[in-house]
Amino acid sequence: MATFIVLLGPPGAGKGTQADILAEKTGLAHISSGDLFRENLKRETDLGKVAKTYMDRGELVPDDVTIGMIRERLSQPDCQDGAILDGFPRTTAQAQALETMLAGFGGRVDVVPYITAPQDVLVGRIAGRWTCRAEGHIYHEKFNPPKKTGVCDIDGSVLFQREDDRAETVTRRIQVYAEQTAPLVEHYRGQGRLVEVDGSQPMEDVTAALLNSLKNAGR
Ligand code: AP5
Repeated sequence: MATFIVLLGPPGAGKGTQADILAEKTGLAHISSGDLFRENLKRETDLGKVAKTYMDRGELVPDDVTIGMIRERLSQPDCQDGAILDGFPRTTAQAQALETMLAGFGGRVDVVPYITAPQDVLVGRIAGRWTCRAEGHIYHEKFNPPKKTGVCDIDGSVLFQREDDRAETVTRRIQVYAEQTAPLVEHYRGQGRLVEVDGSQPMEDVTAALLNSLKNAGR
């Protein structure tokens, strides 16, 4: 049976970093809604143009656009055994749509690790984040620096700082998370699928806690 993992947590908690590691360890596909929007932005698609107007302000892209994009991604062959969802769902409507989509594939959300960290930690992480232009590999100038400044260790592409990582946009993203996404914590807790993970620990310890949560969920 396919395995679907939803990584929940505020901006900067480490969802993307850990999703990459878990995807490598489990062989599951990593689906990041933020990365999918950024790819569309880079290719200047209509979807990318719509998404940009929201992302630049730190607002959520409308549900219908986001749900359609994830439905299409989940239908691809590499998701046959399941996926690690990073950044989706982010609203109650998205969570409901995901349940319907997965039921269509004979699956369900198996486990929801909720990665948390205090706000000052989140802000410090986002301020020092550098992302690879080609594949979105994530670095931090202090906590996870690349071997050569400004260059991705994995594919040699240029590292850049995200437009929406400017201080004022980050403040809005954290607010939007509290208003629209935090209610999903209780939604998944009520379903018995939520596992709290302390994201302020070193990366390896967060990974160990996440792997443990998958094992306990029988995955
Ligand atoms: P998205 O790209 O999803 O951003 P986010 O959720 O705000 O999360 P981040 O990518 O900022 O943080 P993260 O938790 O992945 O942390 P990371 O691993 O990078 O979304 C961007 C925008 O797209 C949204 O604002 C919205 O407009 C739109 N969007 C996306 N999904 C949407 C949806 N479903 N609906 C509507 N709109 C949507 O780590 C951060 C930094 O910390 C890195 O530098 C990393 O190296 C470092 N780090 C990580 N873990 C540790 C650790 N344990 N110790 C020290 N440093 C660490």
